[in-house]
Amino acid sequence: MKNIIAIDGPAASGKGTLSRNLAKELNFAHMDTGALYRAVAFEVLKQGKNPANEGDALYGCKALKGNLHNASPLSNPDLRTEEIGDAASKVASIQSVRDFLTDMQRDFANSPPFGFNGAILDGRDIGTIICPNAPLKLYITAKCEIRANRRMKELQSKGLSVTYEAVLEDMRARDARDSNRKVAPLKPAADCVIIDSSNLSEAKMLETALTYAKKAFG
Ligand code: DC
Repeated sequence: MKNIIAIDGPAASGKGTLSRNLAKELNFAHMDTGALYRAVAFEVLKQGKNPANEGDALYGCKALKGNLHNASPLSNPDLRTEEIGDAASKVASIQSVRDFLTDMQRDFANSPPFGFNGAILDGRDIGTIICPNAPLKLYITAKCEIRANRRMKELQSKGLSVTYEAVLEDMRARDARDSNRKVAPLKPAADCVIIDSSNLSEAKMLETALTYAKKAFG
């Protein structure tokens, strides 16, 4: 069995931080799959196209693929804005976009870069669709108000002026779109471990996840 950890959960649940910490601790390679959807959305908006339109979104997929050979477009800090996050959740509702990105994610999971002991992928459908046979599946969640507060602080630390109410409203809209869409909705896999990060520190999250990783991989 492959050493794969699937980590899913809503926006600002702490899954990204946990994935990075866990990857470091276990020497696993990490893929932030949300960055793939953000990068597609980025290409769409750059051309003034509509992220909710299938043809436009597929244009974004092709533009991303054409760009992936050079310095990773996935680490572009411009992907981290709320505007791109919102557009990403629109392209992510389109089945053909998801199909386009599926192989890229499975290839990474099954053949992580040389030197790593395994792969961690974080997103919305990793445990349910991309890697349903992953030996360890975590679903990270937290109360919406707590996630909105985290996101507000993150945006403010980047010098953006945002109100808690506006961030909470956006968070609720994104949760609804990610969870209620017809294709690959956000939901815990039947055999996942659910961790509520509302009252857990970063260190405690890592410690908890490591306990499950030891059980899964020995
Ligand atoms: O995790 P994030 O905020 O970077 O993700 C951006 C959007 O991409 C999110 O609203 C839903 C979508 N997404 C998805 O549908 N499936 C994934 N595996 C990862 C992200």
